[in-house]
Amino acid sequence: MAQALRAEPRSELDGISVSIRDPTLAYGVVEVLGDLKLDVNEGEFLVLLGDSGCGKSTLLNCIAGLQPATKGQIFISGQNVTWAEPSERGIGMVFQSYALYPQMTVEGNMSFGLKNARVPRDEIAPRIARAASALQLEPLLKRKPAALSGGQRQRVAIDRTLVRDVDVSLFDEPLSNLNAKLRAELRVELKRLHQNLGNTMIYVTHDHIEAMTLADRIAIMRGGKIQQLATADDIYRRRANLYVAGFIGSPPMNLLPGRLDGNIFHGPLEADVTGYDFTGRLRAVLGIRPEHVRTGDAAAALPIRAEARVEVVEPMGADTPVWTRLGDTPFRVRLDGEDRVRAGQVLVHRLRPRQPVAVRRRHRDADLRLCHGEDDETVPATLFGPLRHALCRCDPPSWRARL
Ligand SMILES: Nc1ncnc2c1ncn2[C@@H]1O[C@H](COP(=O)(O)OP(=O)(O)OP(=O)(O)O)[C@@H](O)[C@H]1O
Ligand SMILES: [Mg+2]
Repeated sequence: MAQALRAEPRSELDGISVSIRDPTLAYGVVEVLGDLKLDVNEGEFLVLLGDSGCGKSTLLNCIAGLQPATKGQIFISGQNVTWAEPSERGIGMVFQSYALYPQMTVEGNMSFGLKNARVPRDEIAPRIARAASALQLEPLLKRKPAALSGGQRQRVAIDRTLVRDVDVSLFDEPLSNLNAKLRAELRVELKRLHQNLGNTMIYVTHDHIEAMTLADRIAIMRGGKIQQLATADDIYRRRANLYVAGFIGSPPMNLLPGRLDGNIFHGPLEADVTGYDFTGRLRAVLGIRPEHVRTGDAAAALPIRAEARVEVVEPMGADTPVWTRLGDTPFRVRLDGEDRVRAGQVLVHRLRPRQPVAVRRRHRDADLRLCHGEDDETVPATLFGPLRHALCRCDPPSWRARL
């Protein structure tokens, strides 16, 4: 008789390279990490993004075992490493300061860790050659760090980690000491490297452009907690809350406080937001991305209109971020590089109305949900839908209290 095939039970850690479960870490009475769960998939490039002091380095150090958590658990490649020494965790780490040995050549710096790990001598040279070729370091192998530029030193620091063939590489702001051009170049090299190697990378930065361009997924941190964990595209279009909305974007989203009266938003500008279920009189915040604002004759048909005075123009060639004011409220727009604007001028901003959106009220109060798309995806109402501009309900006493 044919027996029913029984699938082996899948471990909840299958396909997960690093799993962090509720680590607690405090400096004295100040808790820096807490209430945090994060699973990093095998081969994923995960970026931890957040403002200075939000706990990014602390979390990375926790994973590396450099700052052990007092509670919680950490798993790497299926093993519980919560109490393991850093050297037992199968990780490599690249720091912001290159931390190279000045008396050793590039080759010496790269082979040092391998010799310590008792890698057989005849394996060391091919591994160095492979890693050096990945970041174009071959011509520099005999030089000492003092004879290298900042970018070259950082490449050595990255290569020194790669050469160890680790499952998980951790990077703590490795590019932040470099100038903008070098940063952009190394960013591309890192991405290419990850595509070729396919190992798990966890990368800390406070630069959202770096995060958006490098990451498979971004974890946005604030106060030791993750605010949103999603792809760059999702974070841009379906931001989880006002903090994320105001953090991502260049310039970030304008968040205009105001009141909703029926379907009309009254604030620094007036907008018909028919389609939302926020009826009655509510405090609300209208979020508008600078790049969604149009101006000039071509945009005259767009129904939402507001006059703003130009304060500062920052021409960047392809496009031009402009600081304007709607009455007293600062409002930033990103215009086409061809648009000619100057300080003092009054601009007429135009906006497309948002795309149709169904809104459902789940519970009587604060738990409104925006629903959109055929799959009825839902996000809490303090969150924005994937709109050209987005409306957010907020109750008294202050919308800030809900962040
Ligand atoms: N040794 C320490 N003693 C006390 N507080 C500390 C210590 N190290 C870090 N902190 C505090 O812990 C919090 C998180 O620090 P952490 O270095 O993880 O931040 P970060 O997100 O990496 O910031 P940055 O982007 O500036 O590097 C900060 O508020 C910081 O002041
Ligand atoms: Mg840090």
